[in-house]
Amino acid sequence: MEDRVEQKDWDALRAAAVEVMGRAYAPYSKYAVGAAARVDDGRVVVGCNVENAAYGVVLCAECGVVSQLYATGGGRLTHFVCVNGDGEIIMPCGRCRQLLFEHGGRDLLVWTVSGIKPMSEVLPDAFGPDDLAHVADHAAEKEEST
Ligand code: THU
Repeated sequence: MEDRVEQKDWDALRAAAVEVMGRAYAPYSKYAVGAAARVDDGRVVVGCNVENAAYGVVLCAECGVVSQLYATGGGRLTHFVCVNGDGEIIMPCGRCRQLLFEHGGRDLLVWTVSGIKPMSEVLPDAFGPDDLAHVADHAAEKEEST
């Protein structure tokens, strides 16, 4: 799989998101969402939203993407898109931006409502794994000096 992803690859990713959107379980909001991402080994992982009678328990489509990422072998997300029930591009919600950041980092490319952007712009100055590592390093340094 080539590293360079062209418009036709983005279109295929969007088509995968539209397809899985058709299997969303959204009886409460009636707002179906489909999401698709490319992984660094070239495979594509998808997810749809799954709602619950206890409204707050909803699983966003992005949760499905991340679950499939690990269920099929892990790796890093490189390209991401999500769509609504009309197949239009939508933005991942705030929580899901954090979820995506964990598994794709600053360089994950997102097809946003205003074009393709890296996660570093979609979730600027994100909190992430490096922050925890930073604190762990400090703790280790402290330990050594005592
Ligand atoms: N939803 C997602 O699946 N992903 C998002 O990023 C935005 C919101 C879902 C959750 C809920 O089932 C419906 O859209 C309405 O909020």
